[in-house]
Amino acid sequence: MVRLLAIETSCDETAVAIVEDKSKILANVLASQIDFHKKYGGVVPEIASRKHLELLPYLLEEALLISKLDLKNIDVVAVTKGPGLVGALLVGISFAKSLAYSLKKPLIGVNHLIGHISAVFLSYPDLKPPLVLLLVSGGHTQIIYMDERMKMKILGRTRDDAAGEAFDKVARLLELNYPGGPEIDKLARNGNPNTYHFPRALMNKDNYDFSFSGLKTSIKYFLRDNKDAKKEDIAASFQEAIVDVLLFKTFKAAKEYGVQRIALVGGVAANSRLRERAFELAKEKRIELYIPDLKYCTDNAAMIARAAWMKYEKGEFDDLSLNAIPYLNLDDNSWF
Ligand code: KG4
Ligand code: ZN
Repeated sequence: MVRLLAIETSCDETAVAIVEDKSKILANVLASQIDFHKKYGGVVPEIASRKHLELLPYLLEEALLISKLDLKNIDVVAVTKGPGLVGALLVGISFAKSLAYSLKKPLIGVNHLIGHISAVFLSYPDLKPPLVLLLVSGGHTQIIYMDERMKMKILGRTRDDAAGEAFDKVARLLELNYPGGPEIDKLARNGNPNTYHFPRALMNKDNYDFSFSGLKTSIKYFLRDNKDAKKEDIAASFQEAIVDVLLFKTFKAAKEYGVQRIALVGGVAANSRLRERAFELAKEKRIELYIPDLKYCTDNAAMIARAAWMKYEKGEFDDLSLNAIPYLNLDDNSWF
């Protein structure tokens, strides 16, 4: 039995989890900093770092209390090493390093994107690749093919804004609060998605790439020229345009790669319309669809522990020279 303590501080959520072995979650706690950043309309990196530093000791204590464990029961310390805000990452990494050093336990640095992908294996422990993954977060939008040996190949990615970034930017245009994704999701429930037709860039191009910056611009000019349009209808129509392209390309990839399973991961996979449409399409096309529980879609530390487990099993550890890698990406040939 191995108990992994995981720390996630890449952006504006401070999170700590304790997971036993592969996927038995003993504690998964999180402190959202949204209220501190809201009035600035986005994440302020300096505030994020400071809040992580203030919150981490309390979250660690809470996680130990919930799991009824003592620090001496921890076997491995895992932490997000990137991508993310450099200052925010460094707070988590320094905290994890001092814990590992003082407890004399191994340290594992985790790629946050592999963390998001791991979330689906937390919610579905028996899920087996091959599968096609749609990774949609605030900073990334990629379609990935994962083979039976869990080796990954990136089939396509966004050429400009990430899907979550488009949600956040359009929310700002609609004068909604940060983060915009959940706000648009809520507003859109009272709107008609077919009221306006916004562009679906690259939809009919023979690739798996995306582009969302034109969509954002078209909403900007639409708002300038249609002051009386209902915000609910704009939100619903915008969301429909994003969901359409994301799902069209993901299901196309599954067909072309002869894959029966699709997984949606990352913060935008929490979107209710994306989930609803994905389930409809999966049923129609007889594809198995896997989307993590809501709490594992957006940033959390349990997914970091799950990703660290894979490295632990292979004996891939880090030493105290572990550093933040703010622009860390997934590459072709990435392994779990
Ligand atoms: O994965 P995540 O928590 O953090 C990153 O690694 O980026 O994703 C955050 C992004 C934000 O852009 C947020 O607006 C978006 O996910 N998001 C949503 C929803 N919940 C979070 N977008 C659309 N609908 C949602 N319900
Ligand atoms: Zn994330």
